[in-house]
Amino acid sequence: MAGQAAPPAARARVRRYHIGRQEIIQGDCLRVLRRMKPESVDVIVTSPPYNIGLGYRSYQDRRSENDYLDWMVEIATALRRVLRPDGSFFLNIAGTSAEPWLPFELVVRLRALFALQNHISWVKSIAVPDDSFGHFKPVNSGRYLNRNHEHLFHLTLNGDVRLDRLGAGVPFKDKSNIARRGHAQDRRCRGDTWFVPYETVRDREQKFNHPGTFPVRLPELCIQLHGRAGAVVLDPFMGTGTTLLAAQKTGSRGIGIEIDPDYVTIARSRLKDAPDV
Ligand SMILES: C[S@@+](CC[C@H](N)C(=O)[O-])C[C@H]1O[C@@H](n2cnc3c(N)ncnc32)[C@H](O)[C@@H]1O
Repeated sequence: MAGQAAPPAARARVRRYHIGRQEIIQGDCLRVLRRMKPESVDVIVTSPPYNIGLGYRSYQDRRSENDYLDWMVEIATALRRVLRPDGSFFLNIAGTSAEPWLPFELVVRLRALFALQNHISWVKSIAVPDDSFGHFKPVNSGRYLNRNHEHLFHLTLNGDVRLDRLGAGVPFKDKSNIARRGHAQDRRCRGDTWFVPYETVRDREQKFNHPGTFPVRLPELCIQLHGRAGAVVLDPFMGTGTTLLAAQKTGSRGIGIEIDPDYVTIARSRLKDAPDV
């Protein structure tokens, strides 16, 4: 909360853990970010709390909209300082049927700090044309549709960061396009609509007892799209460590910050179990 005394968790001692090339920092991200070197991070991938009342273990996900937006702007300002001038900041956020404006309010406030280089829709479930794929939480309503996608705002300092579109790309469906259009390889840009479903799970434990994780493939695609070998990848709201798993998979050096000790424990065990590249 801007201008208010830090809550006790924010004052708690910062702890660091190293697992291979990955670093986990237990603490308040604002406090940790302010001590990090400027321009030291290539890619930020993060999903902050959405301020929609999710049941995190310690963080209270419900404050006034203005407090929340002020806090997020404060964090984004700290992130801007640590991001390299040619870095990418991928911000995953969604609203709810009751609070549909929030992601837009936030990204408009961030306009003073970043350019919106790409707006990606992360599709969790899709119907094509009569079949359906993926998973979603059904909305029980006569007014609202099920919310099957979330935002992934790709923010950069000036909107001119070169990306590896083919690194995160897909093979051509129609192979005749390769020669006809003079492409050097069987790969095209994936576009700005990413279908990344959750794995099927049967209970909370398989979701790591955390109410708001994303699939590893999502940060992995962001890292591939930014496309710098051995990139330094930061997630200031690390949760169960999903971004660090993606960093590990892509041969990147990840830094994850998380305020809740239990989620840090889960992240450490997920990383220890993950194969090294
Ligand atoms: C949406 S979750 C991130 C989940 C993550 N992407 C994953 O896949 O596990 C947001 C996380 O931010 C953490 N958090 C809240 N306030 C924080 C703060 N000030 N500093 C660091 N982490 C914080 C919460 O405990 C929660 O785990």
